[in-house]
Amino acid sequence: MACKKWCSSRQTKWALVGSASVVLVFAFGMVLSFVLQQRTRPGCEQEAACRPDADMLDYLQSLGQISQRDGLLVTWYHAANSQKEMGAALSSNAMVLEADVTVEGLNTVNETGVPVMAHPPAVYSDNTLQQWLEAVLASSQKGIKLDFKSLKAVGPSLALLRRLTEDGRVRRPVWINADILRGPNVPISIEVNATQFLALVQENYPEATLSPGWTTLYVPLFPNRTYTRAMVEKMQGLVGALPQKVTFPVRAVMVRAAWPHFSWLLGQSQR
Ligand SMILES: *[C@@H]1O[C@H](CO)[C@@H](O)[C@H](O)[C@H]1NC(C)=O
Ligand SMILES: *[C@@H]1O[C@H](CO)[C@@H](O)[C@H](O)[C@H]1NC(C)=O
Ligand SMILES: *[C@@H]1O[C@H](CO)[C@@H](O)[C@H](O)[C@H]1NC(C)=O
Repeated sequence: MACKKWCSSRQTKWALVGSASVVLVFAFGMVLSFVLQQRTRPGCEQEAACRPDADMLDYLQSLGQISQRDGLLVTWYHAANSQKEMGAALSSNAMVLEADVTVEGLNTVNETGVPVMAHPPAVYSDNTLQQWLEAVLASSQKGIKLDFKSLKAVGPSLALLRRLTEDGRVRRPVWINADILRGPNVPISIEVNATQFLALVQENYPEATLSPGWTTLYVPLFPNRTYTRAMVEKMQGLVGALPQKVTFPVRAVMVRAAWPHFSWLLGQSQR
């Protein structure tokens, strides 16, 4: 009897000590994981810099990834398209991911309308845009730039971005790129229809930063013309009155010779 009482109170004591230590370990674990999370995922804290329509430099600066608003400090991962490339891009130090979107089976009998990650001439991919966005948004804070080589991919892709944004998941700047004007040394018309492209962005995803470019071709020494004043004026005519932030992708090797024109173009806006 005495033993039983003694034993059971002893059992209770151990049970108490046991559960107390479980609670302690749990609490310690919570604190530790919180601290680690703070360390490894500093999070986007300045609300204004964490929106799809935010300035990329403000965003990267708010994450502490660049020390000042200087575009040359930004590192890029180019063509992060297939599952493999995307994985490599996500585990790299690159601050912004650039990837190409087209329509699965574009212009074949197998065209599905599903946006997939591939660069022409490829029209198939092991990665859909939906899978790409899910992975990139869930596992990184990297900025996003999507390049569209076909107008057909733009509508369904922006619809996807719209849904994710309404779910509160796109807390970072998104750039939408297409080459919408014919640029230097390009003999044929392969550009994406400018009015339709710009209209799709206005209707479906006006938050994006626009990245409208010129098609270009550069073969060293052979017709080495550069951008003309007419080309940049045409661009200004298309985007001058739009509400979005605009950034112009240019072929670096041709910029110096055309600098007066670009200087004029950049001088047309405070954006
Ligand atoms: C369309 O898909 C079928 C079945 O997968 C394939 O055999 C065929 O080669 C594809 N056609 C084209 C034009 O890609
Ligand atoms: C772009 O599309 C619009 C509307 O469909 C059309 O009127 C215009 O001619 C097209 N522009 C070019 C350069 O093909
Ligand atoms: C074309 O090449 C010539 C000779 O190398 C050079 O002097 C000229 O500046 C180039 N033009 C452009 C637009 O790059």
